[in-house]
Amino acid sequence: MIIPTYDHKTVEVDLPAGTSQSNLLALPALVDPHVHFRVPGGEHKEDWQTGARAAIAGGVTTVFEMPNTNPPTTTADLLHAKKKAIEQQLKTIGIPLHYYLYIGATNDNLTEIEKVKDEIIGIKLFMGSSTGNLLVDKKADQEKIFALAAKLNLPVAVHAESEALIERNKALHADNDSIKVHSLIRNAEVAATAVAQAIELAEQNGTRLYILHTSTAGEVDLIRAAKARGVQVFAEVTPHHLFLDSESYHVLGSRAQMNPPVRRPEDQTALWQGIANGTIDTVGTDHAPHLLSEKALPYPKSPSGVPGIETALPLLLNAYHKGKITLENLVAVISANAKKIFNLPANDDWVIVDLDLTKEVKNENLKTKCVWSPFAGWNLKGWPVVTMLNGKTFYLSS
Ligand code: DOR
Ligand code: ZN
Repeated sequence: MIIPTYDHKTVEVDLPAGTSQSNLLALPALVDPHVHFRVPGGEHKEDWQTGARAAIAGGVTTVFEMPNTNPPTTTADLLHAKKKAIEQQLKTIGIPLHYYLYIGATNDNLTEIEKVKDEIIGIKLFMGSSTGNLLVDKKADQEKIFALAAKLNLPVAVHAESEALIERNKALHADNDSIKVHSLIRNAEVAATAVAQAIELAEQNGTRLYILHTSTAGEVDLIRAAKARGVQVFAEVTPHHLFLDSESYHVLGSRAQMNPPVRRPEDQTALWQGIANGTIDTVGTDHAPHLLSEKALPYPKSPSGVPGIETALPLLLNAYHKGKITLENLVAVISANAKKIFNLPANDDWVIVDLDLTKEVKNENLKTKCVWSPFAGWNLKGWPVVTMLNGKTFYLSS
């Protein structure tokens, strides 16, 4: 069957007999520049078999995977061991997912980073602590990482939250045990302070900077201004920050707990504007699976993070139907921009979407090992029906 592409070309796909042709459209398969597939050490939450199946279900054929595993990916040996495990797991299920790995920065692993400079997509720097124990919170140590990255022509991807301010706010709110305090402890100032510092370090050192999960209006302003000055800064936003906000705690409790936290509706508006005007470059899901039994622990023992790789595309297509994003910008943020920023090799991977298919997000249909979604119960219009990876065609059933 001949399917039109988003840019008025065509692509030929074998579709099972009886497939409705009503409103099919081919988009470049998604690049998800931010996933946590939990190998090693967190395999009860996700592994590369369930993670890759979830990726395909979401129309994703390329992922960048994060180093906050257990142990964290901070040395050449650990990176190589992780790669070996991934290769073996992907081979078992016959999904040749394109994947790239980040190495995690520590206070003293510069030589390890240099050893693997040609094998990684970039350096992940936690300026504030999150899931796992990676943290480089002193400016002098951060500076060394930015300088090395510039020398090696590697991007630095930052989890931009100020550790000092998180600690200060924890003390200020010590008597508040409501889950909503999570957004007060990790408030907008926490994010903006770290983003400003990261931009300063990138500007001084000539480093390419990738801001993960931009979530506030203040960050968007800082990024827009830095881009205008010619700083090589790029910005990601997550589906959960685009579609959930601080009201979500009422419905979801700790299933709306993540770092950085859900924000005010005004921040959400700034993120959508950032996509529209090119300040925001990418959507990365920050797919961070935790079991519901873990999420049910009382705050702050409940871990931060939500799964998202399977729902990003339907959420964005639904937003397209509502006029919140153009198809052109959708393609830019789900794949085209990441390919440019990270110089990815060209591929011929596609996701065929049925723009008219309306379906409810149901936990039992998910492929992620944690089998839940903060978007369960949402009725969305526009779903992927086929994912094509390296010439292999995957029909998405449920
Ligand atoms: O909410 C989050 N979860 N934020 C992070 O920075 C890490 C992630 C995880 O790995 O669970
Ligand atoms: Zn993350």
